[in-house]
Amino acid sequence: MLVPVSTILALALLVFPARAIGNNVQMTLTSDYNSHGLTRMDYSGESNSRLNLSALESDSYTVLQHPRFSNHRVRVKKTMFCDPTVNVYTGYLDVDAGAKHLFFYFFESRGDPDRDDVMMWINGGPGCSSSMGLLMELGPCNIDMNANSSNGTLWNPYSWNQAANVFFLDQPVGVGFSYADYGESIQTTEEAAKNVHAFITIFFETFTQFSGRPLHLSGESYGGRYLPVFASEIYDQNMVAKREGRPQLNLQSVIIGNGNTGISTLYLGRYEIECGTAALEKPVQSISNCVRMKIALPRCQQRMQQSCFDQFDLINCRAAINFCDSEISANMWASGRNVYDISKMCVGSDLCYDEVTAIKEYLDMPRIRELLGVETANNFTSCSPEVGANFGIHMDKYNTPTQFHVAGLLDRGVRILIYAGTYDWQCNWVSNKMWVDALEWSGSDDYGRTPWRNWTVRGRVVGEVKATPLLTFASVRGAGHMASAPSRSSFCAFVDFVAGPTRQT
Ligand SMILES: *[C@@H]1O[C@H](CO)[C@@H](O)[C@H](O)[C@H]1NC(C)=O
Ligand SMILES: *[C@@H]1O[C@H](CO)[C@@H](O)[C@H](O)[C@H]1NC(C)=O
Ligand SMILES: *[C@@H]1O[C@H](CO)[C@@H](O)[C@H](O)[C@H]1NC(C)=O
Ligand SMILES: *[C@@H]1O[C@H](CO)[C@@H](O)[C@H](O)[C@H]1NC(C)=O
Ligand SMILES: *[C@@H]1O[C@H](CO)[C@@H](O)[C@H](O)[C@H]1NC(C)=O
Repeated sequence: MLVPVSTILALALLVFPARAIGNNVQMTLTSDYNSHGLTRMDYSGESNSRLNLSALESDSYTVLQHPRFSNHRVRVKKTMFCDPTVNVYTGYLDVDAGAKHLFFYFFESRGDPDRDDVMMWINGGPGCSSSMGLLMELGPCNIDMNANSSNGTLWNPYSWNQAANVFFLDQPVGVGFSYADYGESIQTTEEAAKNVHAFITIFFETFTQFSGRPLHLSGESYGGRYLPVFASEIYDQNMVAKREGRPQLNLQSVIIGNGNTGISTLYLGRYEIECGTAALEKPVQSISNCVRMKIALPRCQQRMQQSCFDQFDLINCRAAINFCDSEISANMWASGRNVYDISKMCVGSDLCYDEVTAIKEYLDMPRIRELLGVETANNFTSCSPEVGANFGIHMDKYNTPTQFHVAGLLDRGVRILIYAGTYDWQCNWVSNKMWVDALEWSGSDDYGRTPWRNWTVRGRVVGEVKATPLLTFASVRGAGHMASAPSRSSFCAFVDFVAGPTRQT
């Protein structure tokens, strides 16, 4: 790889410039009893007794309930998983009247957990488990592909929890180890946002020593659709909380790696990646294919504009996308190349990466499931085809121009970092740069005037960056879709893989 492994830690540090003042408020208890082997605690701010988070049990869940969220329940335990150097917690947070159970991994910071910021990471899909990002990219440990360790993972010195308290959330329900009692499903990003907002609110109400701490939302791929909407929901709900005198979430930034946010530039960017020199020095696609694609592009753009963006129409938009896919995207899928890193050929049986298979096998080992406290009988799937299909039915990826959410957040002072590995074709850096350059917001003139500069880590150029106080764009040279793991081969968060026939989008 061209990129040093420390690159992404540097990336993370781009967004954690200032330490917030951590507060040390401890959770307080009013009662404490055992039932069915669980420790149960009801807490409110008025009692004198205190729960020290690090005193949670490791062999069984402690159940937490909050008087203000009587429909919600948190099951959490201390788990010796992945990072022996910090406190690690896993558990479920129940939302929607307790019927939906969202699984999370929480790693305290290796720095100063009492003062460091809090960050959420989610993978994309839609339908992919955040354990993929955890175990292949930025998490405290990575899946061991060479049987070097006795525990199946290797400690990652470049984990983002070097600098922040990080939680990984499997969402929406149906993804990873998250489950619903009666098969309820989430089918759009806007619906998912409500559950994520509830999750984060309860998280901070439960782990009160983190209350008020700066919050960053990060993720990749379909995260480019999810995160701006989630952050907007948090911002808007903060305004409601403020009016009603309730505590707000201290949302500071949104961090998107190889995201699909501005869909209108997707195909233009893909053309530049395979038929231009935006990724490699020479185009990888044949001249004849490139000419056909070039001729089809204006028609693809025009149809998408008409049926998806000017006025969204489900049937016509789907027809437009089908046209674009068959004319623009099919050649790349047919090439046998890794669409998440065009410098490589696709290998393995799972989305071009053997790591995906290994993670699936690792997380489904009975001993690991028990260690984590998994409570669903379903086998682990890296990406849920059902969730992907449900979102596909609504054309969730195309029906809302998510860059409008980004502009809305910027205009209200939420910082945004867009970064992209340059070898990715799927959610490529060119299309990301195009929509970011065209974004209309209060600071767009300033952003336009700001020069690009080389981005260096330890004296090596690792990409280019354009940074303004609120909006930063960074390319990561030679990294793929999984830009957050530049130390290993890049990985597919495979935007549409799970959507079956629409895989080629
Ligand atoms: C919480 O418990 C840990 C270990 O049991 C201990 O080291 C720490 O000092 C405790 N913190 C407080 C605030 O009591
Ligand atoms: C793991 O083992 C492989 C071969 O068995 C070796 O090439 C590699 O360097 C080892 N990696 C680490 C991190 O120890
Ligand atoms: C797993 O083993 C590796 C090396 O063999 C070690 O570095 C790491 O800390 C271990 N992880 C856990 C959770 O014990
Ligand atoms: C999980 O996988 C195992 C082995 O592949 C299989 O026997 C079992 O039926 C699966 N369970 C579910 C709930 O799908
Ligand atoms: C950026 O780095 C490249 C080498 O990768 C170098 O050729 C170029 O001059 C640098 N540009 C600036 C403005 O420093």
